[in-house]
Amino acid sequence: MATGWKGRLHLRLPVISPSSARRSPMQDLLSLIRSRRSIRRFEQRPIARETLLDLIDVARYAPSAANQQPVEYVIADEPNRRARLFDLLAWAAHVRPRRTPDPEHRPVAYIVVLRCTARELGALGPVDAAAAIQTILLAAWSLGIGSCWIGSVDRPRARVLLGVPTSHEIDSVVALGYPAEQPVAENARHEDTAYYLDPADVLHVPKRPLQSLLHVNGFTTPSGR
Ligand SMILES: Cc1cc2nc3c(=O)[nH]c(=O)nc-3n(C[C@H](O)[C@H](O)[C@H](O)COP(=O)(O)O)c2cc1C
Repeated sequence: MATGWKGRLHLRLPVISPSSARRSPMQDLLSLIRSRRSIRRFEQRPIARETLLDLIDVARYAPSAANQQPVEYVIADEPNRRARLFDLLAWAAHVRPRRTPDPEHRPVAYIVVLRCTARELGALGPVDAAAAIQTILLAAWSLGIGSCWIGSVDRPRARVLLGVPTSHEIDSVVALGYPAEQPVAENARHEDTAYYLDPADVLHVPKRPLQSLLHVNGFTTPSGR
C-alpha cells in the first residue's frame, strides 16, 4: 500500500456508502469493512428471501476449524415470528433504551445462527460462528443492507420459538434491514470505547486507534519503546 499506517493514525474513519464511485477491488473492500456499522434503526421495506439466501450461501465460504462447518442458520422473516423474536433480544447496552428499535424501525428479517454441537471442534464452534457472522454482515453491507450482531438473546425462549433441537446451540442472532440511521466510527479517546449518541441522535462508535493496539516485531509499549 502506498501510505504507511502512521500517516492514517489520526484520521477519522470514513463512512463510505457501498455505492461509492468505483475504485480498485482492494480499496472497495477496505472501505466496505471500515464503513460497516451496527444498525439499530431500519426502514420497513422487506429484504427479498433470495437475498437472505445469498447472505447465508456466501457464509458457507467462511473459514472453519478443521473445516468441520458446525454453523447452521434459521431465517426468520415472517411478521409474527419476527415480532416474537424481537422480544427476546437486547439492544445497545451503552445507550439503552434509545437504540432499542421502536416499532417503526425494527429489523425486517433475522438470521439466527446455530452451532451443531456434534460438529464443533472443542471450544472453537463460536469462533467458526463469528467468522460466518462477519461474512454475513459484510455481504449484507455490500448490498446496502444494515445489520446488527446480537449476542444478548434469551436462548431458551428462542429455542422454543424456533423449534431448535438440543443437538444445536443458538450462537447469535443477526438482525437485518435497510438502514434508517448512519452511525459514525471515530478514533477512541483515552481508550474509552463506549458508543454514544450526540445531540443530533447520531450514534458514535469509538474504535481504538491503531497505535494503541499495534505491536511490531514483538510486544512493545503503546509509544513503541
Ligand atoms: C459478539 C457480539 C455480540 C454483540 N451483541 C450485541 C447485542 O446483544 N446487542 C446489540 O445491540 N449489539 C450487539 N453487538 C454489536 C456491538 O455493540 C457493536 O459491534 C459494537 O458496538 C461496535 O460497533 P460497530 O459494529 O458499528 O463497529 C454485538 C457484537 C458482537 C461482536
